Amino acid sequence: MNGMRLKEVLETKLSKRERSFVRASFDTVGSIALVEVPDELRKKQKLIANAVLAQNPAIKSVFKKVGAHKGRFRTQKIVWLAGEKKTETIHKESGVFMKLDVAECYFSPRLVSERLRIAKLVKKNENVLVLFSGVAPYALILAKHSFAKKIVAIEKNPVAHKYAFENLVLNKIPADKLILLRGDVKEKIPELKEKFDRIIMPLPKSSELFLETLRSVVKKHSMIHLYQFAAEDEFSAVAENIIEKCFQLGFPCRVVGIVKAGQSAPRMYRICIDLEVK
Ligand SMILES: C[S@@+](CC[C@H](N)C(=O)[O-])C[C@H]1O[C@@H](n2cnc3c(N)ncnc32)[C@H](O)[C@@H]1O
Repeated sequence: MNGMRLKEVLETKLSKRERSFVRASFDTVGSIALVEVPDELRKKQKLIANAVLAQNPAIKSVFKKVGAHKGRFRTQKIVWLAGEKKTETIHKESGVFMKLDVAECYFSPRLVSERLRIAKLVKKNENVLVLFSGVAPYALILAKHSFAKKIVAIEKNPVAHKYAFENLVLNKIPADKLILLRGDVKEKIPELKEKFDRIIMPLPKSSELFLETLRSVVKKHSMIHLYQFAAEDEFSAVAENIIEKCFQLGFPCRVVGIVKAGQSAPRMYRICIDLEVK
């Protein structure tokens, strides 16, 4: 439901001032709505959650997001507001089913077009490495919507890894096409005895700290998609810093493009720096 509709529904239940605080939209993951409730509306949060439920038959539970994604598994604290007290759901994105627990795994439904963008860049028979793979949304979308030969995905959260496996089965993807590895990228990459045509690094908070692990898996013309958070006037500087790091690590790269892949705060963006090893 968009915010205008929600505000209309709440017209008789909230004052004009209160309605001005209602957030314009909310995330939907499967049958779960994840809403943001400003402090000014804390006393009305159940009422708002019930309005969301009443207006959206596909939504069965409403949870409130509390703070940002945090910790080593990048999970988000959520608080139940209305409907079923169930945090497990199945989300459908671009024809792919993704089962997950929203309290225990990172997942953003907002990356739908970014994942398809990457899938379209994959050339026939590429071998792709997805780091920080979570419940495997990138890997699954690539398996279904690209001509990749093989995809290897690495995730250290055991719960997300378990769901990634379920998702492989749920989407009938052969286990030799999508290989799911559980563990720390820094420990798992050295065990890989091959080079990759494309490497995806969706950990915007700190992916640059893992560039050194790529040394054994990149080759000439490998493509790297590295995510970062950056202010709009810093995109080029952030990319320059990455280029410098790659050079120092012994695999000089060129920037093919910088793409906005969502907004994380006012004037702050999640960007994807597309790099090619020279
Ligand atoms: C921002 S989330 C992205 C998840 C997934 N790619 C997606 O788009 O939904 C980052 C993920 O990386 C995992 N992670 C963080 N550090 C890691 C590491 N050193 N090795 C493996 N996985 C890691 C976290 O557990 C989390 O699931």
